[in-house]
Amino acid sequence: MLYQLSYLPGMSAPQPSAGRDDKRTPMPGHVNRSGRLNRLRGLLPTGSLQPGPPDVPRPLGPPTWPTRRPYHAGMSQTATKPAPATGSPAAEPLLSVEHLKTYFPVRSGLLQRVTSHVKAVDDVSFTLAKGETLGLVGESGCGKTTVGRSILRLIEPTGGTVKFEGKDVLSATGASMKALRREMQIIFQDPAGSLNPRMRIAQIVAEPLVVHGIAKGRDELRDRAEKLLVRCGMPAAAADRFPHEFSGGQRQRIGIARALALDPKFIICDEPTSALDVSIQAQIINLLDDLQSEFGLSYLFISHDMAVIKHVCRNIAVMYKGKIVERGTRDEITENPQHRYTQSLLSAVPETDPRTQKQRVVFDGGAM
Ligand SMILES: Nc1ncnc2c1ncn2[C@@H]1O[C@H](COP(=O)(O)OP(=O)(O)OP(=O)(O)O)[C@@H](O)[C@H]1O
Ligand SMILES: [Mg+2]
Repeated sequence: MLYQLSYLPGMSAPQPSAGRDDKRTPMPGHVNRSGRLNRLRGLLPTGSLQPGPPDVPRPLGPPTWPTRRPYHAGMSQTATKPAPATGSPAAEPLLSVEHLKTYFPVRSGLLQRVTSHVKAVDDVSFTLAKGETLGLVGESGCGKTTVGRSILRLIEPTGGTVKFEGKDVLSATGASMKALRREMQIIFQDPAGSLNPRMRIAQIVAEPLVVHGIAKGRDELRDRAEKLLVRCGMPAAAADRFPHEFSGGQRQRIGIARALALDPKFIICDEPTSALDVSIQAQIINLLDDLQSEFGLSYLFISHDMAVIKHVCRNIAVMYKGKIVERGTRDEITENPQHRYTQSLLSAVPETDPRTQKQRVVFDGGAM
């Protein structure tokens, strides 16, 4: 354990906002990406963070998604179109993945020799623009998580290139890799398994700050952890508790707070809502949406649920058996799917209107 945080009685907690409307009030020194460092240093000025929406239960019924708020300016329109060739740095993709491959060895026999490989990711390429949310959708086991982990080098890929702001992630070492890790974060698929049960929430959220030497001292770390928690819709008092004391939705908020601690530019959201019920899913999605607008984040949003992907992402990549089989804008994918597997995924999305007749498309894994 790297750092011990303890609760300090009498510590001032951030004040809750009066309502949801003032939640987007710009923070001092927090206007654009160039102000990132200032914002981080002061992360964040007392009173600048407002709590997110409370976990208000909604009436039961068919899955419904709240109205999508408009995307902020600067969001790219398509994943498939190349960035405009203006020559300006802003036109470059934030993330560029080319021919990414991650194979896991399969061992067998008495000597545990490698007899074959699981091609979890097999020649995956895509780009992600600044401020974009790219959806990666596919069935369980198709390799979505492995793509995310390979980009961050939580798993070492077998081949390919990953470039973040033009820097080669896969060949980075030491200090350069550590600097890249500050910019790229992940929200894990399993909110329970990704939080250390022996650590208090304040320690969990502040740990990245300790590892990267961004904040020092018990008071500063505690203060930042509380503010991050409050921004993610948790009470500041949650900092003293342990992960098992929270619901799945609350744990996911804690995971999001931890991912935000280093003020990243890019977050991989690995099925952040798959373990949650529909009403809590909607709250987490709205929180991610708000944070994207506020912090200028880019997301790779991974899900097996086409309904969620359709709602959240303007650009979609469909993955099947380790490969991306189709890419396009949300409208292109949903209105005119070309691949049989995409058609099958779309036909599995439940209709809220019982009068709507839908033909189920069954994909048997044949021709890709
Ligand atoms: N560490 C590992 N060692 C060996 N095989 C692995 C490892 N991690 C993943 N795999 C295999 O790689 C394939 C892809 O796994 P991955 O977790 O990326 O799927 P996924 O699309 O995220 O699935 P889900 O939607 O269920 O989370 C699976 O066949 C899995 O068994
Ligand atoms: Mg997964």
